[in-house]
Amino acid sequence: MLLVAAALVACRALAPAPAPVPAAPAPNPDLVQRGAFLFLDPGLSGDGTRSCAGCHPGGGSDYRIYREGVEVAIGAEGGRRSLPLRGLWQTAPYLWDGSLETLRATIDRMLRVEMRGGTIRPEDAVALEAYLQSIRPFDRGRIAPDGAPREPATLTSRRGFELFREAGCPECHPPPAYTRPGLFDVASDGQWSAPTLRGVSVSGPYGHDGRWSSLERALSAAGHAPEPRLSSEELHRLLAYLRLL
Ligand code: HEC
Ligand code: HEC
Repeated sequence: MLLVAAALVACRALAPAPAPVPAAPAPNPDLVQRGAFLFLDPGLSGDGTRSCAGCHPGGGSDYRIYREGVEVAIGAEGGRRSLPLRGLWQTAPYLWDGSLETLRATIDRMLRVEMRGGTIRPEDAVALEAYLQSIRPFDRGRIAPDGAPREPATLTSRRGFELFREAGCPECHPPPAYTRPGLFDVASDGQWSAPTLRGVSVSGPYGHDGRWSSLERALSAAGHAPEPRLSSEELHRLLAYLRLL
């Protein structure tokens, strides 16, 4: 009994501490409501054809690839997959190349490029930003803040969580946000932000230009896959865990 307790304490001590994540902002509800309208408004785009929601339905991603606001084929040179906007206070700096520090700068860039020369009144920009800040992180309620599966969880997913840590995933994708600031070279033609893994199993394609058609491919890609390579049984466990996020 004592031995088991001691072993448990030792395990806790070895587990990496959850990465510090800024507290959720509490934007003004009136601004949030006004921002929600703006998010749907094609009037913000330069040619009146598109809204933020078109590429970010429900505050998520449409998982399509764009270059300069025009849809391009998966894997096309310079193409970027649209990003989910959930829990943005946890995912700065913004864009796949991490080049923008603030949400306001990111809104301006979206208007200029993705919204084809769109404009916004300063007071509307404040409301749109408040709306974006109100979008909660993707959450199935299946994991604790330290990333451990909440009970009842399958043995496979619990072992998947162990493997997630053993394989070094939290180095770049630490819970609870499953992303951390910085650029990483995982042999995918450049240095990229580590995308959050919250809700990652909802849809692909994966990677900054959609180069990985499935989670299996993302986790088997040379330079990103753990060394030694995962066996198919290990991959199965890891996927069971990723489906809880
Ligand atoms: C034509 C599709 C399209 C439209 C319209 C669009 N976006 Fe985006 N959005 C993208 C793409 C693609 C990216 C990733 C670009 C990159 O990383 O270079 C992105 C990224 C973002 C990000 C960064 C997320 C992160 O975690 O880094 C934010 C914030 C954002 N968009 C907000 C908006 C807002 C607000 C609007 C409306 C004003 C909007 N977007 C309109 C396609 C679009
Ligand atoms: C050295 C940092 C690093 C490590 C370690 C790492 N990743 Fe990643 N991961 C990244 C980067 C950077 C990308 C984006 C690459 C790109 O877009 O080209 C990424 C992309 C992903 C994606 C695709 C997400 C999406 O929305 O497109 C998944 C899934 C993923 N990682 C899971 C994992 C798992 C599971 C592990 C552990 C086995 C892991 N990663 C280890 C940095 C890392």
